[in-house]
Amino acid sequence: MAVVSGRLLKRRAKRSGSTDYDHLLDVKDVHLAFKGVKAIDGVSFHVDDGELFAIIGPNGSGKTSLFNSINQVYKPQKGDILWKGDSLSGLKPNKTAELGIARTFQNIALYPHMTVVENLLTGRHVRMEAGWLAGSIWWGKAKAEEIENRGIVEDIIDFLEIEQWRKYPVGLLPYGIQKRVELGRALAMDPELLLLDEPVAGMNLEETEDMARFILDIQDELGIAIILVEHDMGLVMDIADRILVVDFGKPIATGLPAEVQRNPNVIKAYLGEELETA
Ligand SMILES: Nc1ncnc2c1ncn2[C@@H]1O[C@H](COP(=O)(O)OP(=O)(O)O)[C@@H](O)[C@H]1O
Ligand SMILES: [Mg+2]
Repeated sequence: MAVVSGRLLKRRAKRSGSTDYDHLLDVKDVHLAFKGVKAIDGVSFHVDDGELFAIIGPNGSGKTSLFNSINQVYKPQKGDILWKGDSLSGLKPNKTAELGIARTFQNIALYPHMTVVENLLTGRHVRMEAGWLAGSIWWGKAKAEEIENRGIVEDIIDFLEIEQWRKYPVGLLPYGIQKRVELGRALAMDPELLLLDEPVAGMNLEETEDMARFILDIQDELGIAIILVEHDMGLVMDIADRILVVDFGKPIATGLPAEVQRNPNVIKAYLGEELETA
């Protein structure tokens, strides 16, 4: 089990205050088209606090576009996305990060020449109160923040078991470790919801199992809700609380893994005979 410091547990306690909203995230009938190509065609789902929700579907079925819509990089033509009951519509992507939505990317998006520690510190920027200008005026506050940020980054490094690489430029690290660093940077943003876009794509079996363990630890130990976009059916069936299956932008089933597995539409559209023998 991953190492969880007192500092990370305190952050968890802060998140689990009383809630007066129906769902942490509520995606309502979202439609998004690019020049007539329907990337998302009427998708609705919700995610509750601390839930591990998975979205699966073939390539091109709109999964990444859903993430880009949640964090407001794409602006859906129809529908709404609520965060703790309030619409995210019109916000800038950095604002959604500030609200507590962090993500990782299908293709690694780290600074390859910077070390693991430096990459993780970039994730802290979204949480810095003092800011650069204020930092030069209120030096004391900025200094305290810097110390706190470094502490949090070290806790995350312990949690993800990447101590041995902390001083290495990220670009030199094995692929599976780079993916873990990217996960660490998202955690450094102190999210309440983590959007993971195909976190095990291109990984070997061992790397996949490690990543699955860290994803479950993030949910169990840190209490962070997760949306996991995956291709790897086995992983999703093993670890997700609930699953949404999409195909050509359309939702074709939502439910518990066992329900989704039995759904005739899913078997027809995506799973084929794979699961009948599983
Ligand atoms: N920025 C964009 N411009 C034009 N088409 C896009 C853009 N982003 C996604 N699409 C299209 O939307 C559809 C869904 O893509 P995507 O969300 O990447 O699917 P997935 O992540 O499930 O593979 C595809 O047809 C893709 O080509
Ligand atoms: Mg994608």
